[in-house]
Amino acid sequence: MSALLANKIQKLPKVELHSHLEGCIQPHLVRTIAERNGISLKHGLFTTDDTFAWGDFVEFLQAYDEASFCLRKAQDYRDIMYTYMEQCAAEGTIYAETFISPDHAAAVGMSYEDMLSGCIEGINDAERDFGIVGRLIISCIRHLGPDQALVVAQQLADNPHPYIVGFGMGGNESMYTQADFAPAFNIAAAAGFACTTHAGEILGPESVWDAIDNLPVTRIGHGVRSTEDPALMAELAKRGIALEVCPGSNIALSVYPDLASHPLNKILQAGISTSLNSDDPPFFDTTVGTEYQSGAEDFGLDLEQLRSISRMAMEASFADADTKARLLAVIG
Ligand code: ADE
Ligand code: ZN
Repeated sequence: MSALLANKIQKLPKVELHSHLEGCIQPHLVRTIAERNGISLKHGLFTTDDTFAWGDFVEFLQAYDEASFCLRKAQDYRDIMYTYMEQCAAEGTIYAETFISPDHAAAVGMSYEDMLSGCIEGINDAERDFGIVGRLIISCIRHLGPDQALVVAQQLADNPHPYIVGFGMGGNESMYTQADFAPAFNIAAAAGFACTTHAGEILGPESVWDAIDNLPVTRIGHGVRSTEDPALMAELAKRGIALEVCPGSNIALSVYPDLASHPLNKILQAGISTSLNSDDPPFFDTTVGTEYQSGAEDFGLDLEQLRSISRMAMEASFADADTKARLLAVIG
């Protein structure tokens, strides 16, 4: 790729719809926060070249839990949010939606309110300093089960805030079904929140059917394995359900052996609304900017195709209509 194109992509306004706050903590920030909170980190959390140590999907989820174990105060959440948004803004990101998990906060005795107030402060400080707009999606954790998801959905419904725009679900896709979580998603939807769920990442197309047939979702986290079922691809396009695609994450987690095998272009060609996202940047050695550069370098997308991805992402975002219109004008 030419330096000129790389430079134009760097400046292109970008929109990130799929990142997890607990998965955005850089190793050095984990150490700083752990130290100020007097917490000893698990031996072996980091590799010798200072990334997180993990092998497969379940080990990744464990390392992610371990990193978030040091978060104890609103200030900790503020600092992660601010640092992540600063880095996004430096790559041209104008809008970012981040999943936050009240279950991780609760596991160390933090209240929902403290977790939230830290995130809100981080978003406000980042918008003031870098102009980036941040919003939050409250996420339940699939492997903690449907009853716990109900608790999280009820907390969401009981504590509205203009920055909280949606409800989502991450975690281990091999536990429970999507339909098991319908009561939690229905509480969130009835309270006016847009919904998304991780599906078609570790499991195949049947998991995406399960989600779109049983949950009030307008987006799917990943959903890349929908490409194994042409009828599902047609259904996603017909219903305007957007896929939050994270190619770097998919390679790191061995969903595909390499980017040459990744179905991003197949999804775009099917007319499905698509965004490009980082998921858990330091865990997967990526960023939203890296994903856009890779869109050109590895998938042959040109600047206007990447701009159209930013536009599709902004349209599929859970932002209010005014924010959407304002930021769509910036994307052009
Ligand atoms: N939580 C954080 N990242 C995730 C992923 N890629 N899949 C499922 N749950 C997650
Ligand atoms: Zn994710």
